[in-house]
Amino acid sequence: MTRRSKSSAAWLRRQRRDPYAGRAVSRAYFKLEQLDTRFRLTGPGRAVLELGAAPGGWTQYLGTRCRLVVACDLLPPAVVPAGVRAVVGDARAPAVQRRILATAGASESRPFDVVLSDMAPNMSGNRVRDQAVALELVECTLDLAERWLKPCGRVVVKTFHGAGFEDLLGDMRARFEDVVVAKPGASRRGSREVYATGRYGVE
Ligand SMILES: C[S@@+](CC[C@H](N)C(=O)[O-])C[C@H]1O[C@@H](n2cnc3c(N)ncnc32)[C@H](O)[C@@H]1O
Repeated sequence: MTRRSKSSAAWLRRQRRDPYAGRAVSRAYFKLEQLDTRFRLTGPGRAVLELGAAPGGWTQYLGTRCRLVVACDLLPPAVVPAGVRAVVGDARAPAVQRRILATAGASESRPFDVVLSDMAPNMSGNRVRDQAVALELVECTLDLAERWLKPCGRVVVKTFHGAGFEDLLGDMRARFEDVVVAKPGASRRGSREVYATGRYGVE
């Protein structure tokens, strides 16, 4: 058997064992559903900021469950469900952040009940550089959450085990309450991906 046919066979075996393969909605959709069940993120009155929204599994989940969803990504979303407002651009850029606020259309300075980030860098294969960019995306999310979350609002951010992970958690614990790290069942077991969550401004 050639190396390529061996790896194809391994991929096929993984697919057959994977309960999330071939479903009508993406694996990402199930991850958010599982995080929502545990942390009660959505609700008909809630305004949610979603960072790293493309191709749109999370947006699809959020669209029917919240009052307002502002979905931001570098890439345009595949579909924009009713009730969702898309902002295309780099969430770290001040101009994009101003557009997010304008799109939320809020008169209040803290317009969001929940800030979610599934942002991940385009993996270059250089583990050190990829982890540094991933941490930068987390930092950006925590800054926006601190600025825009209503009191008791919740932030959920995708992060990866690796260099800087423990420091990041320490930083998050200093800035947010009830910090928890979760690995939803739909997240691939072998991946370093986890989600860290906390609440803003509760004593
Ligand atoms: C894992 S995908 C998100 C999947 C999405 N949650 C879903 O359910 O389909 C990560 C996304 O983060 C986006 N991203 C990476 N860096 C970003 C940045 N600086 N600003 C906005 N989006 C970013 C990428 O373009 C990519 O679409």
